[in-house]
Amino acid sequence: MDPKHLFLSLFNFFLLSGQQTVLGSSHRHHLPRTHHVFDFKPTKLFVFGDSYADTGNIGKPVASSWKQPYGITFPGKPAGRFSDGRVLTDYLARFVGVKSPIPYRWRKLGIKHLRYGINFAYGGTGVFDTLIAEPNMTTQINFFQQLIKDQVYTPQDLQFSVGLVSVAGNDYSTYIARNGSAEGWQPFITQVVNQLALNLKRIQGLGVKNLIVSGLQPLGCLPQSTFTSSFQQCNGTQNELVNFHNLLLQQAVVKLNNETKDSKIVILDLYGAFMTVFKGKGGSKFGNPLKPCCIGISTAYSCGSIDGKGEKKYSVCEKPESSFFWDTVHPTQEGWRAVYSVLHANLEQI
Ligand SMILES: *[C@@H]1O[C@H](CO)[C@@H](O)[C@H](O)[C@H]1NC(C)=O
Ligand SMILES: *[C@@H]1O[C@H](CO)[C@@H](O)[C@H](O)[C@H]1NC(C)=O
Ligand SMILES: *[C@@H]1O[C@H](CO)[C@@H](O)[C@H](O)[C@H]1NC(C)=O
Ligand SMILES: *[C@@H]1O[C@H](CO)[C@@H](O)[C@H](O)[C@H]1NC(C)=O
Repeated sequence: MDPKHLFLSLFNFFLLSGQQTVLGSSHRHHLPRTHHVFDFKPTKLFVFGDSYADTGNIGKPVASSWKQPYGITFPGKPAGRFSDGRVLTDYLARFVGVKSPIPYRWRKLGIKHLRYGINFAYGGTGVFDTLIAEPNMTTQINFFQQLIKDQVYTPQDLQFSVGLVSVAGNDYSTYIARNGSAEGWQPFITQVVNQLALNLKRIQGLGVKNLIVSGLQPLGCLPQSTFTSSFQQCNGTQNELVNFHNLLLQQAVVKLNNETKDSKIVILDLYGAFMTVFKGKGGSKFGNPLKPCCIGISTAYSCGSIDGKGEKKYSVCEKPESSFFWDTVHPTQEGWRAVYSVLHANLEQI
């Protein structure tokens, strides 16, 4: 590496390491010719998974993401994101260096709108069928395969793409809902990770060789698990199972990466990032980070619920930016921003 190049790399490193600069627009001019994680400059992002990544695929009347007060921070009204504002996909798109790709549901808008890729993620889904069932991740990849068959994307497009795959645990909540408990989870975790690994391999086989896959976040710390302790304590049993999932995922990814020369899968350590934010340096900036901003007035209601007379059956905190969690499962925009800044620092070291 010549000295000038080295200087530029260091310059970029410091610039990109500052939490605020990362998310500002100013860093764009200084992006290196190749990406700092992938050895090319990505032009498209293809997204698969669930509500942590969905930016509007679920239709309007069905999902809470289209109800008040979702979207109050960004874009200012409900618009299909499961948060008060931006979600994981939006931050990862910035990291990759493209605009957040449009939801698959809007693919008919025309080719121009597909130039940053497509988001196939659909809230509530898993690698297997869940309570929402369709489109599971297999079906999402089928949609992608069809678009490639239809020559919406060229092999060259795919070569310069990155895939984002989110698995936030709907397979497990479905298992608990159907079975009444988490008993027998261990073999099921193996099945989930095996299926996920097959999916990753299939996406790579379609031409997107470089993937970012999320590890599982601490499910036992989601408000849906901590409300029994008034949002004071994470459920350790659930977090142990999450750690097992993440261990298997890590092993599967090492194996996949070892099998191929020209491809790369990077794991997003959501577990570590959530925990780091919860602990905070010298106390979390989120007060009690386990307490969500938007809560149903009783367990019969959730964020966004209204009764027959149109009356709100939930309460919203005054400052969503001061809460880590938005509802019982999903982080706020500020929560995602904090998670992303931890992830970003780690990704820099790959
Ligand atoms: C995904 O959904 C399709 C269509 O319902 C179904 O045939 C398939 O078995 C599902 N895949 C998995 C892995 O559950
Ligand atoms: C319920 O648990 C058993 C094992 O304990 C497992 O074989 C079965 O698939 C589970 N059912 C569902 C719906 O996940
Ligand atoms: C923790 O989660 C497990 C598995 O879902 C559940 O059986 C247990 O009751 C939970 N513990 C507490 C203290 O809520
Ligand atoms: C990587 O693959 C080689 C053979 O291609 C094998 O000998 C080695 O054990 C593998 N390493 C891991 C960590 O799987």
